[in-house]
Amino acid sequence: MLSVKSILNIEDLSLEDINLVLSNADSFLEVLKRDLKKVPTLRGKTIINLFFEPSTRTKTSFELAAKRMNADLVNFSAPTSSLKKGESIIDTVRTIIAMKVDLIIVRHPDSGAAKFIFEKTNIPVINAGDGKNEHPTQALLDLYTIRKRFKDFKKVKVAIVGDILNSRVARSNIKLFKKMGFDVSVVSPPMLLPENMDYFNVDIKHNIDDVIGEVDVIYMLRMQFERHSRKLYPSVREYNEYLGLNMDRVNKMKKESIVMHPGPVNRGIEISEEVMNLNDKGSDRLLIDTQVTYGVAVRMALLYLLLG
Ligand code: NCD
Repeated sequence: MLSVKSILNIEDLSLEDINLVLSNADSFLEVLKRDLKKVPTLRGKTIINLFFEPSTRTKTSFELAAKRMNADLVNFSAPTSSLKKGESIIDTVRTIIAMKVDLIIVRHPDSGAAKFIFEKTNIPVINAGDGKNEHPTQALLDLYTIRKRFKDFKKVKVAIVGDILNSRVARSNIKLFKKMGFDVSVVSPPMLLPENMDYFNVDIKHNIDDVIGEVDVIYMLRMQFERHSRKLYPSVREYNEYLGLNMDRVNKMKKESIVMHPGPVNRGIEISEEVMNLNDKGSDRLLIDTQVTYGVAVRMALLYLLLG
């Protein structure tokens, strides 16, 4: 049993909770490898995907996770809903609850939205990304991906590179990786760092070359252009020079080290075209697709633990 009713952030999860999610994900990954990828675990349960922001992988990942466990999943997209007619979020959520749903998955542009919905409804909520705040299921699937790759899981050295200021993935991943005892650093120019960076208690670097030869995991973030109200970085060329991952830099990485990214990738900005094509060349360094595959298993584990 999890110690929480909802997955809202990383802070609330105990080490036991985290280990429970990871070990259950192992069982569900087995299901995903079968020819018939379906189990009856959540038959009769109703889940709603409540997305107030665009999403490809997270939304589809939750949808597949629910369907593979035989739950009924309803997709709600803000642009086609009565929100356009002026309905408030909470009235929208109340309407949905009146239809007797068992769990709400929510993505919202405002920090704190998932918690707010949980407090108002008391129905299990999974935060699928709230503003710049957190994206806990992304962090859990990333942790799972790292654990599958590294035997000596305790001593992993990770650098998170890019737009930390606007990234909820960075916030959740830093917290989770620190909780697991990893050695975490961030690489970002000062203008893409939040003011309260001290709170995270991590090493800060400004050039990817300062970490590239030392880390086990280089975790690249997307430039969140849609969240920049003004231009925060001089030029893409400059970004590439200090933060971009190209083949020259990949060649300096330790033999066993890996490259991760939550997706979607701005090809040619944070990761070069050539590095993005590494898998086609038989390399097993680039784990972006693996993260997506494991994401479904981790989300199945979460749905099972909250509803099963
Ligand atoms: C992330 C998100 O939406 O926060 N993507 C994801 O969920 N896979 C990261 C991003 O958009 O850059």
